[in-house]
Amino acid sequence: MKHFRLTTSFLLLTTFITLLTSCFRGVPKPLPIAIIPQPQSIQRSTGVFTLHKTLRIDSSEPLQEVAEFAKKSLATTGISISSKSTAPAVIFVHDTTLVNEEGYRLQVSQNSIHISAKDAKGAFYGLQSLVQLLPTDIPKDPIHIPCMTIDDYPRFSYRGMHLDVGRHFFPVSFIKQYIDMLAQLKMNTFHWHLTEDQGWRIEIKKYPKLQSIASQRKETLIGHYTDQPPQYDHTPYGGYYTQEEIKEVVAYAQERQVTIIPEIEMPGHSQAAIAAYPELGCTGNPVSVATTWGVFDDIYCPKEQTFEFLEAVIDEVITLFPGPYIHIGGDEAPKTRWKNCAHCQELIQREQLKDEQGLQSYFIQRMERYINSKGKKIIGWDEILEGGLAPNATVMSWRGTAGAVTAAKEGHHVILTPTSHCYFDYYQSQNETEPLAIGGYLPLKKVYDFEPIPEAMTAKEASYVLGAQGNVWTEYMKTTDQVNYMVFPRALALSEVLWSDKKIKDYTNFIHRLQNFLPRLDKKGIRYANHLYEIKGRSFYQNDSVYFELKTTLPNSRIRYTVDGSTPTKNSASYLAPFYLTKSCTIKAAVFEEDRMLGELYTTHFKKHLAVEQQLQISPAPHPNFDSGGSRALINGIVGHHKRFNDPEWLGFNSDSVRLTLKLNHSQKMNTLRVRFHNGKTSWIYAPKDIRIQSKTGFQRVQNIPESKRPFVETAIELNGLVADELYLTIYNYGKIPDGRPGAGHNAWLFINELILE
Ligand code: ACM
Ligand code: ZN
Repeated sequence: MKHFRLTTSFLLLTTFITLLTSCFRGVPKPLPIAIIPQPQSIQRSTGVFTLHKTLRIDSSEPLQEVAEFAKKSLATTGISISSKSTAPAVIFVHDTTLVNEEGYRLQVSQNSIHISAKDAKGAFYGLQSLVQLLPTDIPKDPIHIPCMTIDDYPRFSYRGMHLDVGRHFFPVSFIKQYIDMLAQLKMNTFHWHLTEDQGWRIEIKKYPKLQSIASQRKETLIGHYTDQPPQYDHTPYGGYYTQEEIKEVVAYAQERQVTIIPEIEMPGHSQAAIAAYPELGCTGNPVSVATTWGVFDDIYCPKEQTFEFLEAVIDEVITLFPGPYIHIGGDEAPKTRWKNCAHCQELIQREQLKDEQGLQSYFIQRMERYINSKGKKIIGWDEILEGGLAPNATVMSWRGTAGAVTAAKEGHHVILTPTSHCYFDYYQSQNETEPLAIGGYLPLKKVYDFEPIPEAMTAKEASYVLGAQGNVWTEYMKTTDQVNYMVFPRALALSEVLWSDKKIKDYTNFIHRLQNFLPRLDKKGIRYANHLYEIKGRSFYQNDSVYFELKTTLPNSRIRYTVDGSTPTKNSASYLAPFYLTKSCTIKAAVFEEDRMLGELYTTHFKKHLAVEQQLQISPAPHPNFDSGGSRALINGIVGHHKRFNDPEWLGFNSDSVRLTLKLNHSQKMNTLRVRFHNGKTSWIYAPKDIRIQSKTGFQRVQNIPESKRPFVETAIELNGLVADELYLTIYNYGKIPDGRPGAGHNAWLFINELILE
């Protein structure tokens, strides 16, 4: 038998040949091979396995449970399971020679299909690959699976998805569907974020007020956190999972080889628990379950009564979750109350701690000792590094990757969840019709391109990286449909990051497999985001002129566009190459198939002003994570969208000040300079307080910018007919973020776009 190594181009070629050969009568049309995540190795061989709706499932003893699961899961595709010895068979083979316990070999031959694995985990993943080789619904006519051998195993041992059920609560049926989808994508961990300021969601029998008070809130914020004035829905909201429901979910996950990590937040994000039991806080004063988003000052006070409470909570939690880890949170705990609490200050003295950070470390280490004594390990967000890491803790690095590097240097296991690539609450499209989200911009391709091992790590440090996880914070996800929309298809891209070797990843090939996968989501009624026909626009400078480029996710799509503000039609210009922008205009574009528009209409505005096509020097340079548009992004005539900050229009800085030198080709008369800043305080981004503007001719002005709650700020500097060929701007960073706000104590970020000179 002849074997080929399967490559991307080979896959596309075989699909093409398949289409061609299927035109000839008598040649069976093999099904496409389109598995997500991409298996490590697929070797095609000649022939096909023909399936006439009926299959027998057989297995060696240790894989019996997976075989039983296979019967149930294949039956949902319409296959009838037969016990007749003559029926074509799927045979699970226990093979102890395989190295990886999550690995498997799937052999499709003309007469049978063998799934070999050392462990139930591998057998389960072999089954998932087989299911993806079959159509979503088995047709009446026979189908033909190409003969092949798949040898497969994961790149990372931790492949996770998180879900926040505190901000919004989702029913058990949805949690099961979520876990089911993770399992199909060969993800093995569900991080269940069960407690929050806005609601406590796990039944704790010893503390009934967690159910009656902490699980309920009076009302919920409407719109974005930064909208002014804040508005509320005046509707009580709540819910929690009973221990019986949790057992049911845990059993469901176990059957799908998914481990659940429960998160019980401490010391911060605990306002709901303090609302139920005010004595757990520093002041003892009543507080309510939070009705808005953000970071709250009322956190657990590290007193004996609090530890007694948390230990009793942990006692009940560990009886429910058989996995090795308890996540204790540790993030975003303002020290405002601790600084003013006699008990906290005395404890700092008594334990000879350096400060409140030391007290946080004391808190976490004490809880770690308790949890370790029960045979479980802790995971915490990267703030648990501050003030000294608990000895056996695993760190979840979310504020970038620096926490991961530090923890790995100290010999701790790490899981990567940096906001830049793993926060699925960020926008996934630049389209203005996107449903409201927290902010940010994380398109599918960026998730796909994520590399979980930070560049700054040595090989030894990299060995501490267990894997990565997508985080789903649900402030702006009220419904299960909205959660699905934010999760899919980005979770598919992440599954491939975590499972498939870097060498075999290929985005175009992934997109083809994704199109094949979408009917599986349709069948389950999962509402996913589809930006395959989304147009992305980009302006760039070439020979001192501004050009505009249009692109789509799918190569070879037909884009039609206009520059007069009209909606493109089948007769509009076909986009062939970047075009030159000479005057202010509105660009509209869409993907067309024949005369039909696919996907959403793309719109952007180009404003020709005096700074466009001039020169701009920036010192210091923007932060490398936020400089993708280049220095002229600030003078390209395209105004950055006010809801985002991490697209190419915005430049981001974390220096104390930024000096901009604008050089014009000739002296010009200037009336105003408008400068725009992002002001997304939940993302630690602040508009500056002052800008100094000067010219060579001695003009000088300092513009003060009042602090604003709006998500972006535009300031207009009056130039009163100044005639000059150079302008110098010094923009001063806001400085340290005040206590009680997200990122307190850190330097604020400064995001600029655009300088509009008129
Ligand atoms: C987090 O996003 N606060 C971990
Ligand atoms: Zn206190």
